[in-house]
Amino acid sequence: MNPPSSVQRRDDTLRSGAESSSVSFVVNGARHDVELDNRTTLLDALRERLKLTGTKKGCDHGQCGACTVSVNGERINACLTLAVMHDGDDILTIEGRAAADQLDPMQQAFIDHDAFQCGYCTPGQICSASAVLEEMQAGFPSHVTNDLTAPIEITDAEIRERMSGNLCRCGAYSNILKAITQVAKERA
Ligand code: FES
Ligand code: FES
Repeated sequence: MNPPSSVQRRDDTLRSGAESSSVSFVVNGARHDVELDNRTTLLDALRERLKLTGTKKGCDHGQCGACTVSVNGERINACLTLAVMHDGDDILTIEGRAAADQLDPMQQAFIDHDAFQCGYCTPGQICSASAVLEEMQAGFPSHVTNDLTAPIEITDAEIRERMSGNLCRCGAYSNILKAITQVAKERA
């Protein structure tokens, strides 16, 4: 058995006091009931408690997008939100995107276009990219949307703008753009 992580030890110390809370959420279709220090971020809850380490910790300060997950259908940075704020929420991480052996279209497109090198940013990129296409389809404008009354055109500028919160230190941006564009065209 592995020794408890620092987060677990901290939680164990505080569990009996008022500084911890019971939280229930659904992650990738499975319900989890956990007792957490109120200060635990959603990112730490996913990685340290649920052992879902696909969601990555890059900066832990909301600046890199490596921790992007979907909460109730919207993308968020899991490092910027406390787990206790998500009682009752439905959370989707990179681990929940493939169905059995079948990758989801965005995962497959990243492979098809060689859209990663080290792969550290990739789970966040894929979660963000999937949300970007849904946001465009729903008509949410961005800073580069010219016509606010027309359906949003899928352009390189739109995708780049909407993905600007997801950094890639390997510089795989051009292939990430190709992967997202492929899925956008498949859906159009
Ligand atoms: S780890 Fe959350 S934005 Fe960087
Ligand atoms: S693939 Fe290495 S940081 Fe993006």
